[in-house]
Amino acid sequence: MASTDADAGVEMDQNDQHDQLYGGAAARSGADGGNKHDYRRITTRVLQKMKREGYRFASLTAYDALFARIFDEAGIDIILVGDSVGNVIQGHETTLPVTLDEIIYHTRAVRRGVQRAMVVADMPFMSFQVSTNEAFRNAGRLMKEGGAEAVKLEGGKRVVKTVRRMTAAGIPVMGHLGLTPQSIHQFGGYQARGRSKEEAEQIMRDAKALEDAGAFAIVLEKIPAQLAADVSAALKIPTIGIGAGAGCDGQVLVFTDMLGLTVDFNPRFVRQYDNLRERINGAVAGYRGDVRDGAFPSQEESY
Ligand code: KIV
Repeated sequence: MASTDADAGVEMDQNDQHDQLYGGAAARSGADGGNKHDYRRITTRVLQKMKREGYRFASLTAYDALFARIFDEAGIDIILVGDSVGNVIQGHETTLPVTLDEIIYHTRAVRRGVQRAMVVADMPFMSFQVSTNEAFRNAGRLMKEGGAEAVKLEGGKRVVKTVRRMTAAGIPVMGHLGLTPQSIHQFGGYQARGRSKEEAEQIMRDAKALEDAGAFAIVLEKIPAQLAADVSAALKIPTIGIGAGAGCDGQVLVFTDMLGLTVDFNPRFVRQYDNLRERINGAVAGYRGDVRDGAFPSQEESY
């Protein structure tokens, strides 16, 4: 899927075709007056078709209906209710304290805000490691109680049996390889993974094993771009990169990072599209000043 300048032109055409087929950026944003109820839903089949046709899709995390709705209306294809909620919303240092009930709660909220995107719920630490049976039941709860259309779980070979059980029962599973934050204490830090030949080969084997087990997509986090491109080329199912270069079939970011809301977290894989923290600060300071000065509310803002 790597593209030369000449290829880029071809890919643009494919993107345009997809916009017609699946609603399109203009229709999604309402810029052309498109009816949002005409939007097609993003399904596992749509994502696989996008991969086959070289149409790169975009994913963001969300944890509530408010942001999920904005992202859905902006045309984001997959909304991930990530266990990153532990770091970015709950204020924990890691994702480990997040519970299944908390992910169900956030998934329910996200579900209410979304019409078009696929909603994927993360399986938090210890919700799938104890036994295949427990993992299976917990994945079912994320779908039944949370309204998720798919679940995501971290790990390769060790989760293959669990993934097979889920997919056999109709639960779509997204894999997650490379830097898997639930293993942070085992890794001893957030360094990139897959840099050694052995680790790179293991990631490739794990990716193929997850595909064989029926996973419909795999997140590749913080691994060398060449390795991610090789894994993407070796699989029929789409890969979704975060810190894994441009050779993946789609990209995902934690929304608070790309909007400039997160404090003190600037890894090089995050592109900050706005600085909402600064802008919110400015707006709130303006409000506070107006209240203090008696400039808010005005007569027009009063009854
Ligand atoms: O929890 C999360 O937000 C994630 C993404 C970073 C892929 O797993």
